[in-house]
Amino acid sequence: MLPVNSSIKAGAIAAAICAFGLLAGMALAHETLTTTVLFDREIVRILSKHCVMCHDQGGPSFPLDTYEQTFLQRRKIRAEIIARHMPPWAAVPGYGQFANDNSLTLQETQFIVSWVEGLGPRNSGTVFTNVAGADAARPNEIRAHADAGHWLLGMPDLARQLPANTIEPRAPDQVKRVVVDLGLTSERRVRAVEFMPGDRRVVHAAFFTVEETGEWIGSWTPWYGVMTLPKGVAYRLPAGAHVVAEINYRGAQERAVDRGTLGLFFAGSSSSNTASDLVLDAKGAVPAGAQSQRFHAEQRLAEDTYAAALRPELLPGANSVEVSARRPDGGTQVLLFAKDVPADWPSPYILREPVVILKGSILAVTAYYSNSAKTSKPGGFRVTMTKYSNAGFDRK
Ligand code: HEC
Repeated sequence: MLPVNSSIKAGAIAAAICAFGLLAGMALAHETLTTTVLFDREIVRILSKHCVMCHDQGGPSFPLDTYEQTFLQRRKIRAEIIARHMPPWAAVPGYGQFANDNSLTLQETQFIVSWVEGLGPRNSGTVFTNVAGADAARPNEIRAHADAGHWLLGMPDLARQLPANTIEPRAPDQVKRVVVDLGLTSERRVRAVEFMPGDRRVVHAAFFTVEETGEWIGSWTPWYGVMTLPKGVAYRLPAGAHVVAEINYRGAQERAVDRGTLGLFFAGSSSSNTASDLVLDAKGAVPAGAQSQRFHAEQRLAEDTYAAALRPELLPGANSVEVSARRPDGGTQVLLFAKDVPADWPSPYILREPVVILKGSILAVTAYYSNSAKTSKPGGFRVTMTKYSNAGFDRK
């Protein structure tokens, strides 16, 4: 057969398939809806809860507030949530419960898949297919709403603006470190820490430590901006304390000047229990071609210990990290198991309820790395656990 002929034939078949596809699509659109999930009802709630802290005008990614924006992105949305790329969250469900867990529930995932496959209806009225003028607002339009730009825990007892960082257009991922003097003339106790970034388009995460003690006291990610200790527990800040902020940035389309504000909430004198850090770390090389190079560190706990939060710091190439406690009775308690940790969204894991680890248990961290490169590269971890003992409670 001549090549010319075959290409004509292929073209005709393609046209036929195309026409059939169009007809099938139209027929479907005029038939009954194949989903009961509606944008104005289920989808908008999911977007508000899990997506628009990043996907809106002032955030780091394209907006997903309106029906039209979401409808246009529906296939990508389905692919991203099925692959668990979006929203970024690496903890595997079933191991520990976290206050800052932003992952979709199985039902939320099913709602989105059903909505996308059912032609993405807006409300019970019609199937909306006219996406012209995607940015035009409509009267009484239902949109997803981002909750940003105000203190979530109320007015802080002390607020300090951080020095400014300038982030160039499209700058790659980078961490900037700034220090702020809290101006404390006497020791204070802090029960909660909140952060408000200056420009949410460029801030991916922020971590705060006390310069004088090295202690980790709080963090911020687009989906969770506070650290609150359980009642009766507080961080200790010495007089003259400075806070070091490590801020993870990625450049936006335009130059951004970010100047965030740190808010501290003081504890009363009844908070006799002091939170402090327990750090486990391991370092080493990941040989070229390694598939699962193991790094491990452990420590026996000399007293009953309450874990409130975990901050794993990993290097590129980490496949997984597990934090667990081996109890004296032989049982194992997994505090965190995270896989495919996204390097561009560092996150703490704030336990929903503090977890008690019995005296004599061995706290262990294990991480696995792979390295597809031809040369060896560094691997390892540093895991910081915010913990306290219950000694303070017993005295009351
Ligand atoms: C922590 C911030 C954040 C959250 C939360 C988040 N996203 Fe994203 N998303 C991004 C960024 C930033 C990008 C741009 C791509 C990149 O750099 O990873 C993106 C990209 C995407 C893409 C496009 C991927 C592509 O191939 O172009 C889709 C679709 C998406 N997000 C959907 C969602 C949905 C749906 C949710 C909520 C269920 C969500 N995202 C939650 C930050 C976020």
